[in-house]
Amino acid sequence: MKTTSIILAAGQGTRMKSDLPKVLHPVCRKPMVWHALQAAQTATTEKPVMVVGHGAEQVRDLVGDAANFVVQEERLGTGHAVQQAESTLKGDSAFVLVSSADMPLLTGDTLSKLVETQKANTGPMTMLTIIAEDPRGFGRIVRANDGSVKAIVEEADATEAEKAIKELNVGAYCFDADWLWDALAQIPLSAKGEYYLTDTVALAVEAGLRVEAITLEDAVEAIGVNTRIHLSEAEAGMRSRVNRSHMLKGITLIDPASTYIGMDVEIGQDTVIQPNTFLRGETKIGSGCEIGPNTIITDCQIGDRCEILSSVLEKAILEDDVDMGPFARLRPGAYLSKGVHMGNFGEVKDSVLREGVKMGHFSYIGNADIGANANIGAGTITCNYDGKNKNHTKIGEDVFIGSDTMLVAPLEIGDRARTGAGAVVTKNIKEDTLAVGMPARAIKKLK
Ligand code: UD1
Ligand code: CA
Repeated sequence: MKTTSIILAAGQGTRMKSDLPKVLHPVCRKPMVWHALQAAQTATTEKPVMVVGHGAEQVRDLVGDAANFVVQEERLGTGHAVQQAESTLKGDSAFVLVSSADMPLLTGDTLSKLVETQKANTGPMTMLTIIAEDPRGFGRIVRANDGSVKAIVEEADATEAEKAIKELNVGAYCFDADWLWDALAQIPLSAKGEYYLTDTVALAVEAGLRVEAITLEDAVEAIGVNTRIHLSEAEAGMRSRVNRSHMLKGITLIDPASTYIGMDVEIGQDTVIQPNTFLRGETKIGSGCEIGPNTIITDCQIGDRCEILSSVLEKAILEDDVDMGPFARLRPGAYLSKGVHMGNFGEVKDSVLREGVKMGHFSYIGNADIGANANIGAGTITCNYDGKNKNHTKIGEDVFIGSDTMLVAPLEIGDRARTGAGAVVTKNIKEDTLAVGMPARAIKKLK
């Protein structure tokens, strides 16, 4: 049976005090609306419908093809917002799941439970509740003597006795679709001038129909974001969730409180993540690695048994058994083959370091191909940029580049060649040749 989700994302989010629409603020570097979409997609069979209003264009641009959009021109309440999806969904979907884009921690599992519970319900709707000491302005759940839900009372309309109720409305529901469209048309205008989706409960109860409720065990899921303080709470909750899932898979996090792992990062077993480490984007790390402390890795592929200490890596690839740092930097296009050693204050960009290359100290390697087992002496620079073009340097196998060598590209250095300390190399050097000086000149054949 077709189940479609409606994601409410029209609110202005005034209290965020931001030019960015609220639902585009990131949690663990993904916009809140992304989290809401992920969860909704898990629980439903059709493409979600997103109700947009404030900042509609920006939200649409970001979400793209992942949802169908309906625009709520005037913010007349949650009931009115859901009603905007009626013309798109009526007669098409048997069940409708409603959630908000500003609840990024609500999981797909929880939404699936809502859908499953409603499928078994004789009545028209199932809702989600939490038990909490801090009501955070949520609607209070009034239960009948038999335990069924009797009403949701919004905080503004609640009596003192109702305000004391600890069971709260999370704001996620699964409805029988046909019933929902009829009910929405009957919702009265509230004193605040809004149509409350929560009034569907009273309509069902008046008609003698059962309203089911499931109660969240983990209240963290119900964190809704209205302010930057809530945003930081959501961030902490999501980060802790991600960290725990990695620890359960066999990854050691020495200090989860200072470990920041992105939503899409994969890590192999027995890797140890040291404190103050950020793993971001499409990053994949092998097993048995030691990463950090003080390391930022973005969009990288890292093999097994690598050691990365206090370094910054972006869009780089490391094969197995690479060790680097402290204070190494890999920029996009860096490729370090098996067993490469890169020490302190080195930078590599758009270059391949082949198996066993050693580059211990203070070097810049850009637009280069460094042959297997070459040794790059301290302070070596590929002078790859002539002001207009990036030029290429090719260095052969078993080459020994002396300390402080300037390699003025384009340049080719043959296998087993050597340069003396301080050489400024402007011409190609043949294999098995020693070159020295400024500019460097070949002085003798080595073999
Ligand atoms: C709503 C519930 C409340 C629940 C709380 C949980 C109602 C009347 N009340 O209250 O019981 O405890 O959520 O967070 O539903 N939205 C629109 N268009 C509108 C109004 C709202 O798209 O015209 C969207 C908002 O962007 C937001 C969601 O609906 O994503 C909830 O709206 P909000 O104004 O935050 O509702 P609350 O008053 O917090
Ligand atoms: Ca809210």
